[in-house]
Amino acid sequence: QRDAFIKALMGKMTIAEKIAQLNLVTPTSKTGPFATKNAFLKLKDGSAGNVYSVMGEPDFIHEKAMLADSTSLKIPFLNGLDIIHGYKTVFPIPLGLSCSWDSILIEQTARVAAIEGSAVGYNWTFSPMVDITRDPRWGRVMEGAGEDPYLGSVVARAMIKGYQGDDLKSETSLMACVKHFALYGAAEAGRDYNTTDMSRLTMYQYYLPPYKAAIKAGAGSIMSSFNDIDGVPATANKWLLTDLLRDEWGFKGFVVSDYNCIQELVAHGVASDYEEAAGKALIAGLDMDMASESFAGSCQKLLDDGKITIDQIDAACHRILEAKYNLGLFENPYRNFDPGKASTVLLCEKHKQVAKEAACKSMVLLKNENQTLPLSRQSKIALVGPLADVQNQMFSMWSFRGETDSIVTILNGLKKQQNKIVYTEGSFITDEPVFLGKSRGFYNDQEQAEMIAKAIEAANQSDVIVAVLGETSNMSGEAKSKTDISIPNCQRQLLKALKATGKPVVLVLINGRPLTLTDDLQFADAILEAWRPGTMAGDAVADVLFGKYNPSGKLTMTFPRSVGQIPIYYNHKNTGRPYVDGQRGGIMKFNSYYLDELNSPLFPFGYGLNYTSFRYGEIQLSDTLVTGDKGKLTAKITVTNTGNYTGEETVQLYLNDPVASLVRPVKELKKFQKIYLEPGESKELEFELTTEDLKFYNHDLQWQWEPGDFNLFVGTSSSDVKVAQFNWQK
Ligand code: IFM
Repeated sequence: QRDAFIKALMGKMTIAEKIAQLNLVTPTSKTGPFATKNAFLKLKDGSAGNVYSVMGEPDFIHEKAMLADSTSLKIPFLNGLDIIHGYKTVFPIPLGLSCSWDSILIEQTARVAAIEGSAVGYNWTFSPMVDITRDPRWGRVMEGAGEDPYLGSVVARAMIKGYQGDDLKSETSLMACVKHFALYGAAEAGRDYNTTDMSRLTMYQYYLPPYKAAIKAGAGSIMSSFNDIDGVPATANKWLLTDLLRDEWGFKGFVVSDYNCIQELVAHGVASDYEEAAGKALIAGLDMDMASESFAGSCQKLLDDGKITIDQIDAACHRILEAKYNLGLFENPYRNFDPGKASTVLLCEKHKQVAKEAACKSMVLLKNENQTLPLSRQSKIALVGPLADVQNQMFSMWSFRGETDSIVTILNGLKKQQNKIVYTEGSFITDEPVFLGKSRGFYNDQEQAEMIAKAIEAANQSDVIVAVLGETSNMSGEAKSKTDISIPNCQRQLLKALKATGKPVVLVLINGRPLTLTDDLQFADAILEAWRPGTMAGDAVADVLFGKYNPSGKLTMTFPRSVGQIPIYYNHKNTGRPYVDGQRGGIMKFNSYYLDELNSPLFPFGYGLNYTSFRYGEIQLSDTLVTGDKGKLTAKITVTNTGNYTGEETVQLYLNDPVASLVRPVKELKKFQKIYLEPGESKELEFELTTEDLKFYNHDLQWQWEPGDFNLFVGTSSSDVKVAQFNWQK
């Protein structure tokens, strides 16, 4: 039925109308270097078939979507927006959300985003970003789920399900767009838009799985990335867009370029002009051109010159029309759009509650000396820091439609629960020259000294200090790469001065990437990583600080000790000269380590404290010798809450294949379970393993397992585990 409908429609379309379907225009330059000239006119005269980043009130968005009615065939537009971590109700940044390890909750956040986005007229979101990230210098690590392919795949599936619902046709669905295909997260030296270079094995084993999982979960579209792969930019990479994506993985949706990527093929040096670039992209398998208008400007000529075929244009047009059909746009072009309804769902109480839960669950307790946290409700609190009472700093650069006025700041959140709070700003946000002038106020030494003095005064009158420090929202995100990923110097001065008062210091971090905190550790008794928590920031931080919610987040990206350790990730290889902690110099001096730094991270993948404590029993295996492809192994472990608070724990299972035909990583996450335990309560957890869990890509890129010994680890983080061994034979 669908194919017949599209065939009949395409039978009526001129070549120009088909090319228009491949054209995606934008009236704003919010997320890229320029806006489309006369974008709305192009929608009206039918030379562009899709639009994104139409921002404004629902009526305005509706009016623009209605422009399709003025075209001869009235084909509805895909109307896209970067709804990355919520629309009006803003959730924590995706990196934060992933630290919840809670796929049900993550799915719920995407569902809420889809309900809100569709209510104002959008039908397409450029999310999820599933790029694996091992380099926190890259500003976009905040948009993804961190460094692990297994967890990244779990999160990718949850988000696709949340956005697209059970049926893309349902009015409240948004079509997802998986990005950035592929390997964008491996930009060399963490510099945005930089080249990537890696072996096929590394690609298949670590970087590609989340994209594949998202495709298998039914994502309707995928975005090509800015970088090149093996010397061919993703946007013109036939191996990537056709051989792998369609032929090997069976992707049936359409591929859109990232912003202006087709024209950028010229700067990359693989096309001499935009026309050649357009031809290369189309032939490689790209269907839709975001912003560059190269398809619109060149396809007819390329066709006339015999450089592309009508079949290639038809194939791209067909896929885009199919997406519109799948979304139900031909039956109902405006779907869930309803200004009346929009106002009832946007930021409704139910959505705010999801945002609060998500914010609580994404926070990671990094340090808690002497049980500084939770705070006693009787304590007098000195709340300081330039991020403690600034609404828009709780969002990211991607929450441009978020409702800033509705944000609960940390000051307001704390005040709702306790009234013995003295607040003072304490420091400028930054003294880094590159950010000065963009953030609040210009840095000034004398004013900074005065601010610190006031903070000390507040601290001296209080029992405990809560310092809210970190990055501004313009320090992470797209085009926000940094070589220094520590807290801005002026804020660190404040922290040091606060510690010198002798009062306990709780550091609440607001930021979008792992930071280097090695020098700051000594100046804080407790550290809570709150990321950029979104709309309900203040309420969630208050719940965690006062112990109403016991933090349970676990890091999904390693925190390095220093920038020199980057890239740093838990699933690394052993090397032929592995370093053994603490053994350096002498005969060990030829091992793999730094003279001036440890190998271990400051905080490893999977790490996160809790107000309570958990004891792990020994691993009980159903057998130590398993046989056959269809064999099964059960690993049991008992976890006990040995502390005084009810707590949630994420129990992680890792595997290691110590002898194989290829070098295998020291550990790989294979499973995890979340449990709730009352004080004193124990639970026995059971994990079932099959040969699927043993598999890896071998030298011929075959997904297979090899018999032999295996190490199995279960624990509270990637570096705090119990160990058991088993042998699995063919
Ligand atoms: O979706 C984004 C992408 O992540 C980066 N470039 C612009 C796109 C559309 O806004």
